[in-house]
Amino acid sequence: MEPADFVAALRGAAPYVHAHNGRVFVIAFGGEAALRPDFDRLIYDIALLHSLGVKLVLVHGVRPQIEAQLAALGLASQFVGDLRVTSAAEMNCVKAAVGALRMDIEARLSTGLASTPMGGARLKVAGGNWVTARPVGVRNGIDHQLTGEVRRIDIPAIRDVLAQDRIALLSPVGYSPTGEIFNLRAGEVAQTVATGLEADKLIFVLDSDPDQWQLADETGDAGQLPISDAERLLARPLENQALSSEDRALLNSALAAGRGGVARVHLIGAEANGALLRELYTRDGCGLMFYADENYEAVREATIEDVGGILALIKPMEDAGVLVPRSREQLELEIAYFDVMMRDGLVIACSALFPFPQNGMAEFSCVAVHPDYRRAGRAEALLKRAEASARQLGMRKLFALTTQTPHWFIEHGFSLATIEDLPMQKQRIYNYQRKSLVLVKDLTA
Ligand SMILES: CC(C)(COP(=O)(O)OP(=O)(O)OC[C@H]1O[C@@H](n2cnc3c(N)ncnc32)[C@H](O)[C@@H]1OP(=O)(O)O)[C@@H](O)C(=O)NCCC(=O)NCCS
Repeated sequence: MEPADFVAALRGAAPYVHAHNGRVFVIAFGGEAALRPDFDRLIYDIALLHSLGVKLVLVHGVRPQIEAQLAALGLASQFVGDLRVTSAAEMNCVKAAVGALRMDIEARLSTGLASTPMGGARLKVAGGNWVTARPVGVRNGIDHQLTGEVRRIDIPAIRDVLAQDRIALLSPVGYSPTGEIFNLRAGEVAQTVATGLEADKLIFVLDSDPDQWQLADETGDAGQLPISDAERLLARPLENQALSSEDRALLNSALAAGRGGVARVHLIGAEANGALLRELYTRDGCGLMFYADENYEAVREATIEDVGGILALIKPMEDAGVLVPRSREQLELEIAYFDVMMRDGLVIACSALFPFPQNGMAEFSCVAVHPDYRRAGRAEALLKRAEASARQLGMRKLFALTTQTPHWFIEHGFSLATIEDLPMQKQRIYNYQRKSLVLVKDLTA
């Protein structure tokens, strides 16, 4: 790598380092990841996240390890769908597999060799009887025996562990108040712990590459889509057939976590080198992300029905001279370029994106947030969405014209520019009396 590339990459990661510092991330990986020859690399990346101030909860799966234990004893499990029925004999295999893998993961997290990226890391890992489980019971006439479901997770105990700067490691087993051990799905454990902790992110490291799923085709460059869209896409028969039952189960846990309040759920493939770091510390990431936070979720493309709501929102700002007046007719003609943010059926924020394809530029305009809903990142959410759309349209620059809000734009990556920097079409209609300032943001940086 050229020194300049290294410096640029490190600088590019800086905003994410700040943003993720002190945040709680739950990372779940299947037992398959631990069988990979490059499993150490994943562990090194996890260690690096910890060093960068992220509070980590790890949840591991153990399916192939259980299969290996069963095979050694000449046993085979009965499956209902993709859920194993765990008999008492099989539970011995589960215990052996979980115990061995846990030790293996703990050992790797304890590596301190200066010759590895773990040099000086000194990670402290904690575990405990945090997961209470109950039996799945008899379903469709089949007793699932020692296969269980999560009943609750001791969230305060895990919070204590994180507060002590330790990594919490959870296995897919739980204990019942009657003293039994139950075999659980790792996805369910990860989803429940992430929801309970109100984690900032839940990350699934999968055996397959989510970037290659058909679902990803609809997400644009950034690989991001709202939970509601993901649910809709996953309901399509084609999508369903293409996914393994394992991946589908994890996806369902991912969606449930999003609905349960985890703002961001990421799916990344174990295969790609450094996928975890690329997904978390670069702009475009390299997997799929489902987002669920209120501001994002409420944004959608405007329709002709929104014209009245947009006019009601922007009228006071037009009267105050902050926004350029738009007639109803003009707005009706331009409505396809608008995004709106809704709350209880009301338009509480809007923005527009007008592409100038010949110049590789797009105008971000008419950004307005209702005074009651300001200072909560809504305009920023609209800007991010506009940037993603502009990139998807192949635009290299975003520009804005403003009289009273230049600092907001500058604080969001725009720089002051001149009228000559605008597309010719826009220069021709520039209003010299209004004296709007020209701001430009480079989307390729
Ligand atoms: C500018 C506007 C869209 C920001 O909406 P928002 O949802 O509150 O924006 P965000 O939450 O993403 O950002 C809020 C931050 O921007 C700052 N900000 C708002 N208006 C600003 C301005 N004119 N100059 C500098 N900073 C401004 C706020 O102070 C706040 O920062 P702080 O909490 O650190 O003080 C909103 O104030 C608005 O609708 N203004 C009237 C219309 C307008 O000026 N549109 C832009 C011209 S096209």
